[in-house]
Amino acid sequence: MPDLRPTEILLSEEQIRKRVASMALEIRRDFPDDLHVIAVLKGAFIFLSDLVRAIPGHVSLDFMAVSSYAKGTTSSGEVRLLKDLDTTLDGRHVVIVEDIVDTGLTLTYLQDILRARNPKTLRTACLLSKPSRRKIDVKVEYIGFEIEDKFVVGYGLDYAEQYRNLGHIAVLAT
Ligand code: IMP
Ligand code: MG
Repeated sequence: MPDLRPTEILLSEEQIRKRVASMALEIRRDFPDDLHVIAVLKGAFIFLSDLVRAIPGHVSLDFMAVSSYAKGTTSSGEVRLLKDLDTTLDGRHVVIVEDIVDTGLTLTYLQDILRARNPKTLRTACLLSKPSRRKIDVKVEYIGFEIEDKFVVGYGLDYAEQYRNLGHIAVLAT
């Protein structure tokens, strides 16, 4: 197996910080009163923490965990629910926070199960999107950056559970 590691910096800490701050204000503007944010573990944990700290006013949080990549850099196409929510979504304005939308399989699965719980609105925020990789045309209202078809790590995103702690986003390569 080739030795893959983070190489060129795709998005710097500064670029990410600015974009996340403006996404936070956009979300607050769309939902000035009620806002319930659901983060998808584990990849979204850093994005979530920066995003919610940049949202002024009241925000409630909950967490879900799903697994879509068994190992490595290719999608299995199979989504497993590892941790469900603690509270109901009935009548809430809900925003799903996800690290990256790639094929769209994970988000489609999540949106379907969350929509069935009767939120007043359901929107999705993704830090990254790889449009060229899409298999399902999933709706994502807030996208941080559109990127090319390259496997990236850092700022919460992993390769075999490594590199989540990088402050920037880097391309994984040999
Ligand atoms: P999808 O179901 O193909 O859209 O995949 C979404 C999930 O795959 C994300 O939540 C990530 O966990 C993972 N993923 C997709 N692309 C990347 C990447 O470039 N780096 C790290 N994880 C990725
Ligand atoms: Mg992952």
